[in-house]
Amino acid sequence: MAVIAHNCPNLQVTVVDLNQEKISRWNDPDLSKIPVFEPGLEKVVKETRFKNLHFSTNFEEAIKKADIIFISVNTPTKEKGVGAGHASDLRFVESSARLVSKFSQGHTIVVEKSTVPIRTAATIMSILDSNKDPKDSKTFDVLSNPEFLAEGTAINDLQFPDRVLIGGNNSLAIDALEKIYLNWVKKEKIIRTNLWSSELSKLSANAFLAQRVSSINAIAELCEVTGADINEVAYAIGEDRRIGSKFLQAGPGFGGSCFTKDILNLVYLCEYFGLNEASNYWKEVIKINNYQKNRISKVVADKLFGTLTQKKIAILGFSFKSNTNDTRQSASIKICKNLLEEGAYLAIHDPKVSKLQIAIDLECEEISNHSNCDYINKWQFFEKIEDAVYSADAIIILCDWDCYKNLDWKEISNMMRAPSWLLDTRNVVSKKLLKDTNLNVWKLGLG
Ligand code: UDX
Repeated sequence: MAVIAHNCPNLQVTVVDLNQEKISRWNDPDLSKIPVFEPGLEKVVKETRFKNLHFSTNFEEAIKKADIIFISVNTPTKEKGVGAGHASDLRFVESSARLVSKFSQGHTIVVEKSTVPIRTAATIMSILDSNKDPKDSKTFDVLSNPEFLAEGTAINDLQFPDRVLIGGNNSLAIDALEKIYLNWVKKEKIIRTNLWSSELSKLSANAFLAQRVSSINAIAELCEVTGADINEVAYAIGEDRRIGSKFLQAGPGFGGSCFTKDILNLVYLCEYFGLNEASNYWKEVIKINNYQKNRISKVVADKLFGTLTQKKIAILGFSFKSNTNDTRQSASIKICKNLLEEGAYLAIHDPKVSKLQIAIDLECEEISNHSNCDYINKWQFFEKIEDAVYSADAIIILCDWDCYKNLDWKEISNMMRAPSWLLDTRNVVSKKLLKDTNLNVWKLGLG
């Protein structure tokens, strides 16, 4: 919404949320307090806030005034009931539609921004129609306009999208939304489809991307046992223009709020329509991803003589990828939990994730001082990399933050307890930097 406001100074954009604390943070004069860390976001918010971008908890007023309403709420995986563990929980989409139905005036275009299962637009339309007062003359159109931005590059992705997808049944409503994007996106980049194609395209795009990561991770394991190098293989296959070079970076397994959830959703949809082979196909993408996290934990234990008890392991990187403080579904969570279970003491560093978030994710409190603890099954957060790695038996790089790329490995290896290991799951450390160190090195996908 901030990027829309930035590109369309003539539009008034109001972001509403029930959560007062969140909205206060969005309105905080100190821009470093806004609730999301995203490169470039502060600048966009600074240039638009209180001019044509507003943050409020006043639903009634915002809905009454709006011509177009974007529903951008969470659609988590259902935890109970029919489809638990697979289907999306649409309760926030539904409650938003009820509010819109109640407070809107005249004609309103309702846009699905959240990733939703196919045919959610029909649910929204029926809620909009059935909740309005019969005496009202209000009318609605529902459009699907999924968001393809990736965290960490969100502002750039929004400013220069590969495509903008708008699905709908009424071309006039599509025109109205298209007009907004035409302020900064070329017409050729705007794809118009029917509602259901648009909804399914979003799930399919994420499933394809996740499938590529699982594919390259499966090949990485084969590289390790055969003597091939995953970076060379990825380059060689990526040069084929039909395959393309992006999204071929082997790693500890994909994380983030979308991939797992969207594939589970696709699996549910396939099962719902009796497409069991298709459902099994997509399930394998998640299976390989979970396997990758467990496999890495096992490699760590194997390298450290089969036991992690009484050993200090430095974890570099906790977010699900670099340039974000988001830890949802981060591979680091599962890997750290596995290592803690094996009895390790973890010294965790991340440039953006807070120790409170790590405690929530690991479901276990940080110890305050390791010198007087039993050194088993505990973790501590360190702001400085050198404190995290000091006297460690092993360092595991789990995230490709820039700050891990050019460390002085000679100095670090001298600070560690020998025999010391570096396990690089993101292939961020170049061979050159490891020359003249005493480190034993394991790189993911390197035979
Ligand atoms: C994803 C989609 O890219 C985006 O289009 C959609 O709108 C939301 O979901 P996001 O989850 O923010 O975006 O991050 P993305 O860059 O796709 O990475 C997802 C995960 O895959 C991360 O854990 C990342 O480290 C991993 N990944 C990605 C790899 O392991 N290798 C790769 O080559 C690319």
